[in-house]
Amino acid sequence: MDSPLCDPAMLTRTYQDFRVVNAVVSGWWRIYRRSIRPALSTTTDMTLLDIGSGGGDVSRSLARWAARDGLRLSVTGIDPDARAHVFATSQPKIVGLSFRRALSSDLVAEGERFDFVVSNHVLHHLSVAELKGLLVDSEALAGRRVLHADLERSKVAYLGFGAATWPFFRHSYIRPDGLTSIQRSYTVQELRAAVPAGWTVSPGKPSRLVLSWDAPGA
Ligand SMILES: C[S@@+](CC[C@H](N)C(=O)[O-])C[C@H]1O[C@@H](n2cnc3c(N)ncnc32)[C@H](O)[C@@H]1O
Repeated sequence: MDSPLCDPAMLTRTYQDFRVVNAVVSGWWRIYRRSIRPALSTTTDMTLLDIGSGGGDVSRSLARWAARDGLRLSVTGIDPDARAHVFATSQPKIVGLSFRRALSSDLVAEGERFDFVVSNHVLHHLSVAELKGLLVDSEALAGRRVLHADLERSKVAYLGFGAATWPFFRHSYIRPDGLTSIQRSYTVQELRAAVPAGWTVSPGKPSRLVLSWDAPGA
């Protein structure tokens, strides 16, 4: 789906299918409940940036959960990919949710700040230099906490995802791209070795990890 030559109808189906895949495997409800919701308030506005928001379903879920809990949270999803931006902005509007076509470095250059900075399935896409850049950007953008969630590479994840998706997602890139993504992703130990001091890598289930950072004094 990263290729500019990929089939537009398959790509749209892939963004739609991510809603299902992320809901089942990505664990954002647990991350929201444990690491975001306790800091939110019914009276004080808080902000959250979703870097590499793609089709936007994680941004949408976070905005919806906070609204349902009566908590004041503005969510901004950013992605430089024009196709992702078109899909994300074509979905029904949610109050407090917006999307921009931008890189994290663009927002740093603009002096933007957010209480929370998050991402889903972005780390494994990046080169070593890009990962370092993302973490520098994240520290500059986050006033409170950064949470980057991703797959953890393992044989079990590869075989399990392959088997579970085999009968489904025939008309999207979910299955082939998912298998490639698992192969490209980090193990917990590899990511710990790749990130600077101050960052914490926590294992999750099924075959997940979360890379987190808390702003000093937050
Ligand atoms: C696999 S997609 C993840 C989409 C979405 N988060 C999801 O879970 O469905 C990774 C996205 O990260 C975006 N990306 C990578 N580096 C970025 C950066 N520094 N700032 C903003 N977006 C970035 C890419 O354009 C790509 O669309």
